[in-house]
Amino acid sequence: MARINDNYLKLAAGYLFPEIARRVNAFAEANPEAKLIKLGIGDVTEPLPEAIRTAMIRAVNEMGKSESFHGYGPEQGYAWLREAIADHDYKARGCEIDASEIFVSDGSKCDSGNILDILGHDNTIAVCDPVYPVYVDTNVMAGHTGGANEDGRYEGLVYLPMTDANSFEPALPESPVDVVYLCYPNNPTGATASRETLKAWVDYALANNTLILFDAAYHAFITDEDVPHSIYEIEGARKCAIEFRSFSKNAGFTGTRCAFTVVPKGLTGKASDGSDVEIHGLWNRRQSTKFNGVSYIVQRGAEAAYSEEGKAQIEELVGFYMENARLIREGLIAAGMTVFGGINAPYVWVKTPDGVSSWDFFDQLLNEAHVVGTPGSGFGASGEGYFRISAFNSRENVEEALQRIGAKLAV
Ligand code: MLT
Repeated sequence: MARINDNYLKLAAGYLFPEIARRVNAFAEANPEAKLIKLGIGDVTEPLPEAIRTAMIRAVNEMGKSESFHGYGPEQGYAWLREAIADHDYKARGCEIDASEIFVSDGSKCDSGNILDILGHDNTIAVCDPVYPVYVDTNVMAGHTGGANEDGRYEGLVYLPMTDANSFEPALPESPVDVVYLCYPNNPTGATASRETLKAWVDYALANNTLILFDAAYHAFITDEDVPHSIYEIEGARKCAIEFRSFSKNAGFTGTRCAFTVVPKGLTGKASDGSDVEIHGLWNRRQSTKFNGVSYIVQRGAEAAYSEEGKAQIEELVGFYMENARLIREGLIAAGMTVFGGINAPYVWVKTPDGVSSWDFFDQLLNEAHVVGTPGSGFGASGEGYFRISAFNSRENVEEALQRIGAKLAV
């Protein structure tokens, strides 16, 4: 009989978002008349920008003629998209990233999980707490941890608490780690990292031979001018960091699927014989073996995100969600709650009132206000006592949700 990967049995509970969906579906079945407003998973709601749709329609029509038809594309992405990314996302911000260092993919969730394919099994791995659950669960699946403790923390991982007690600035690990996941602007807390904070991480990584896996999926939501958008804005980061980026949240691609990962040349890891090996070559090998690239049509859409019209339309879209974030922040503050984030990120991180647990607050909001958020404890033990509200929804729904929260919850 086929053996299964037992590591899956260590996973403490269902993946957070399906678990929320399960509870919400049960509530909806029992209360079919309730109009639910979902501010839980960070899934975009507004239409794809026109410049992107137009480019994709053009690409569909090209696919309809034999002279402009495209079969398999390069596994790493088409050169024109990789060049647009290098120019607009990196060179324009003073980062020396070459198109050949960019690998186009169908999602940052996939890339941040798949990257473990090219890393060894005996690394010491650090994550912030709370954290995007994919970083933890993929390490559990790969056998990099022991079982979960009572509070859901896995043996073998180094957790770096990130709460209002330390102003959401996790301390550098007390002893050296081999890999650290960082996400800025942060999911779920909405915190940002200043240039000094990122420099401290890069200096730490260079001094300790640590690989930083930097998730910048929310960079477009940064409104403060001096907050870095990329880890490569910090000197030395090319030698110690991989960066994940996505078109999901800024350009509305959660259902369309396009992202990319930057693996600088010259970034190395250790082989078991002690030699230094370029990570770029390993990732290239992994992608060309296990991945056939993103569809031509979608890549043409992503390319249009960098046209003048595309950039202006994306700015408007991001501005729309950030206005939602402002309304959520201010509405919750007016309702007497303590809130964080929501200024440089589309997530507002709320302290639950009177020490109510995250899941109890989830149930209270669901049952009394018919509003869905995300319990902070679902992101890690240090998320207990917090609750995440996403700014991704229509204005009408955000306003109604705030009214209901204000009216129903005595805080
Ligand atoms: C979230 O809500 O944290 C995100 O939507 C998850 C994701 O992007 O995969």
